[in-house]
Amino acid sequence: MRAITINEFGGPQVLTEAELPDPRPGPGQLTINTTHAAVGLVDVFFRRGDLAGRPDLPQPPFVPGLEAAGTVRELGPGVTGFRVGEPVVTLSQVSLGGYASVTLAQAAMTVSLKDGGIDPAQAVSALPNATTAYLALTRVAHLQEGESVLVHGVAGGLAATFVAVARSLGASHVTGTVSSQARIKDTGHLGLDGVFTSDRFVKDLDGRLVDVVVDPVGGDLRTASLDVLAPLGRILLLGHAARTPDSPVTGDELWHRSAGMLGFEVGSILRDNPATARPAAEKVVGLLTSGELTLRVDELPLAEAAEAHRRLEAREVPGRLVLTV
Ligand SMILES: NC(=O)c1ccc[n+]([C@@H]2O[C@H](COP(=O)([O-])OP(=O)(O)OC[C@H]3O[C@@H](n4cnc5c(N)ncnc54)[C@H](OP(=O)(O)O)[C@@H]3O)[C@@H](O)[C@H]2O)c1
Repeated sequence: MRAITINEFGGPQVLTEAELPDPRPGPGQLTINTTHAAVGLVDVFFRRGDLAGRPDLPQPPFVPGLEAAGTVRELGPGVTGFRVGEPVVTLSQVSLGGYASVTLAQAAMTVSLKDGGIDPAQAVSALPNATTAYLALTRVAHLQEGESVLVHGVAGGLAATFVAVARSLGASHVTGTVSSQARIKDTGHLGLDGVFTSDRFVKDLDGRLVDVVVDPVGGDLRTASLDVLAPLGRILLLGHAARTPDSPVTGDELWHRSAGMLGFEVGSILRDNPATARPAAEKVVGLLTSGELTLRVDELPLAEAAEAHRRLEAREVPGRLVLTV
């Protein structure tokens, strides 16, 4: 198969094309003839070796790519519920490997796209992250109908999916922050009730308090979020896109505000509880079919994986970037 490999941690140039043996599916697995592979910031962190100290950090050589779409190529022993040729998308790919013409996936983490006519580029861009959003909002933040939601870095790949998912769960008012005035135009399709730049959002909210803050950005934005949190509000901690040191918050600060800070990492949750993946994914498939969840997606050929990483790191991507195979 054609694949993009990482033979050492480093800059985008370490992403090189190679011919590798086709993977074969074992029990509980299937293989996919990949047509689209999404590129996310976590792929950049894996490539750079940024997640030092994490026991699950992939070590070179490896083929990156957590999210892939295509058609079923081969079913492993005991796998039922899929047919060869059926269009599918993977959720979080524990074993990576999406930047390749053949992707090996866990059947429990694979969702059929045979009904609904969903565009595979949209599916691979939105479905895995929207499943994360659904699990985070329902199982961790326990979003209630009528509550308000503020999504930081709302133009980003993960963050953008929270808007439609929060609305589908009955959120009353959904706003977002972006890093610059120029980025506001990249959020027009999301249907937000308001967009603020991250340096002024506390001022621009003008005293309006928020029940749930969604934060994949971190740094000062995270700490400032406490100032806009309603009593009994929750901040969902999802990532560190800003790559700045986390600001410490004491238990007393949370206690006195009746506030919660709740972490969620989909990879480890689904690895330990794969059965939670599909019911959540099936909820969000409906949002894609109806068009309630639509992302801005740009495509590049697989051979340009290094350019895709360069753009993402330079924060030049106004939505999601997908590699076509
Ligand atoms: N918890 C989970 O299960 C889970 C799942 C998927 C991803 N993640 C994490 O979520 C984070 C985002 O991933 P992604 O793939 O969505 O990345 P992405 O598409 O590159 O989006 C990152 C967003 O963060 C914003 N941002 C970056 N630096 C910033 C700064 N200094 N100040 C303000 N905003 C800043 C960017 O704003 P601009 O566009 O304006 O630059 C962009 O909107 C990563 O840390 C990733 O590891 C977590």
